Amino acid sequence: MGIDLGICLVTLIFSIKDVSCWGANTNTTSFPSKYKKPECLKSPLETESRLLATGGPANPYNRSFDSLQLPILGMLEDPSIKILFDIQDGIRYVLQTKNEYTLVYHGTGTTGMTGVLDNMIEPGEKVLVGIIGYWATVASNIAKRLGANVIQMEKPHGSRFSLSEIEAALKQHRPNILYLINGESTTGVYQPLEGIGELCYKYDCISIIDVVATVGQQPIKMDENKIDVVYLSSQKGCGGIVGLAPVSFSPRAMRKVRRRQTVPKFYQTDITEQADAWYITMPVEQRNEAFLHSISMSLLYSLREGLANVVEEGIENVWQRHADTHRYIQFRARKLGLEPYVKNPEDRLIGTTIFWAPKGKDAVKIEHYMLEKFNIEISVGLFVDMGKVIRVGLFGSNANRATATVVMDALEFALNSTDTNSE
Ligand SMILES: *Cc1c(COP(=O)(O)O)cnc(C)c1O
Ligand SMILES: *[C@@H]1O[C@H](CO)[C@@H](O)[C@H](O)[C@H]1NC(C)=O
Ligand SMILES: *[C@@H]1O[C@H](CO)[C@@H](O)[C@H](O)[C@H]1NC(C)=O
Ligand SMILES: *[C@@H]1O[C@H](CO)[C@@H](O)[C@H](O)[C@H]1NC(C)=O
Repeated sequence: MGIDLGICLVTLIFSIKDVSCWGANTNTTSFPSKYKKPECLKSPLETESRLLATGGPANPYNRSFDSLQLPILGMLEDPSIKILFDIQDGIRYVLQTKNEYTLVYHGTGTTGMTGVLDNMIEPGEKVLVGIIGYWATVASNIAKRLGANVIQMEKPHGSRFSLSEIEAALKQHRPNILYLINGESTTGVYQPLEGIGELCYKYDCISIIDVVATVGQQPIKMDENKIDVVYLSSQKGCGGIVGLAPVSFSPRAMRKVRRRQTVPKFYQTDITEQADAWYITMPVEQRNEAFLHSISMSLLYSLREGLANVVEEGIENVWQRHADTHRYIQFRARKLGLEPYVKNPEDRLIGTTIFWAPKGKDAVKIEHYMLEKFNIEISVGLFVDMGKVIRVGLFGSNANRATATVVMDALEFALNSTDTNSE
């Protein structure tokens, strides 16, 4: 070790002496490369602004987007740690929970889905998955990969489970975990949470709920509804950009984590590891030991500011704004003669609405028309009846009457135009 260091220093001194003028050696032929510079990277990036009215991501809240320009702090500085605490409080507020174990994974909503399933499932355990669209099939797939004994219950697209159907399945299968989607953005279906937690207490299982498409849009009330675990994403109702996945675990869920016989499969989303990194189980004084992985300060700023926007407005007002926008879209759609994908109005998701493309009209052409003529992005569905439906998402900063008017006016033009006729 000492000799190595000595040689190293000697070499360094000699090499310094070799350079006649420190830093002025611009001879790049000493680093020959056979690879040419890619032409595509020789010009700076330019993008156009769009109205993002699909199932997500939505346009972020302005203050969330603007915060991406703020100077980047060191990860372990006091002001950075304060941002972590701000975010935890903001997430608790939008979820209406007091859960201590509330923190954020780096990754998208799907990282949250994978992470919470991994923490809650031990190989061989029974997971009852309620499928009302695409996203629950992903969760089911992940649970199988984690070695769970997955039982799927399924409803036809456009409908949801009743409480008695859920109870019957719990009674029959006696699962360790019940997994449901609160807002299925691929079918536009809302699955209410009232009574779910109570049933899981009664049948001694853990509830895991996907609230990606409902949080910051309609009430979650995690504690009141006795929900054990939820995950969400930064880019939908929280009004931020893609890249972070907040999660929250109830004390009951954490008791199951502590009783585990095996460790979770993934290190980075292990709630016990993350609880240290978010200073839930580690004091701030031990910040160097709490370090788990690099954190993106810019993404965290953006999430903090998205949450701060919700706090400033008040969550009840945010829910109201989303509900008003939803009613307005339904009203305009009725006038246009559009048929809703979800028949029962009470089962409709607030923020993401799906209609059947009218007879004689091509959904793909409508999508193109909206983008080319109006700079508005809608979608033709995601995995479910793709190309046959028109999917309009207005949430976060886009959930307001003015934006909804712009979108529905453009849709009216698109539907009137012969350019969108099917062949
Ligand atoms: C968007 C969405 C997801 C996935 O989130 P990503 O950030 O795209 O990984 C999961 N569930 C629901 C209900 C969603 O709407
Ligand atoms: C640059 O480096 C190459 C390879 O080491 C050497 O052959 C050449 O003489 C150097 N040119 C100058 C101007 O120093
Ligand atoms: C957000 O910023 C855009 C672009 O600067 C502006 O047009 C819009 O009015 C702002 N929205 C709000 C709610 O302030
Ligand atoms: C679309 O067509 C209807 C029926 O012809 C008409 O009343 C309406 O004004 C038109 N809307 C637009 C935006 O062109």
